[in-house]
Amino acid sequence: MTQEENLDLQPLEDILAEYRGQKGAVIPVLQKAQKIYGYLPAQVLRRIAKGMRVPLSRLYGVATFYSQFYLTRRGRHVLRQCDGTACHVRGAAKIIERMENELGIKAGETTPDYKLTCEVVYCLGSCGLAPVAVVDDTAVGKLVPEKMMAIIRNLN
Ligand code: FES
Repeated sequence: MTQEENLDLQPLEDILAEYRGQKGAVIPVLQKAQKIYGYLPAQVLRRIAKGMRVPLSRLYGVATFYSQFYLTRRGRHVLRQCDGTACHVRGAAKIIERMENELGIKAGETTPDYKLTCEVVYCLGSCGLAPVAVVDDTAVGKLVPEKMMAIIRNLN
C-alpha cells in the first residue's frame, strides 16, 4: 500500500464543502489542500477535480504553472541555497556540492527520510551576506560547507 492510500481526506471534504459551486476557487482550494497535506498528492487532486467538477488535467495545469504548488512530498525542513552571482563567486557551488555528496540527493530533491528538501535559488536579495541560504524561514549568511553541514545536522 502506498503512503498516499492512507491519506485522511476528511479535511479536504470540509474545504470542498466550503467552496462548493465556486468554479473560480481552484487556487484557494489547492492552497488550503497543500497546507493540510504539505503538497498535492495525486489522490487529493483527483478528489478536488471530482468535487469541483474541474478536469483533472486543468488542475495539473494550474498546479504545475504556479511555483507555490508541489506535486511531490516535501521535507520537514526546506533549505534554499543561493547560487546567484554574488553567492557563486563566494563559494556557493562548494556548499551545494558538499550537501549533495553528504545527503546523497541532488538540488531540488528531498532526503529519503523526508527530513530535508534542498533547493537552489538565484539571489535572495542579501548579496552582502554571500554566500547565503534560507533554512526554513531563517536567512544564514557567510556560509562555508562545514557551517552548512552543522546547520543541517542540528535540524530535527
Ligand atoms: S546572489 Fe545570493 S543573495 Fe544575491
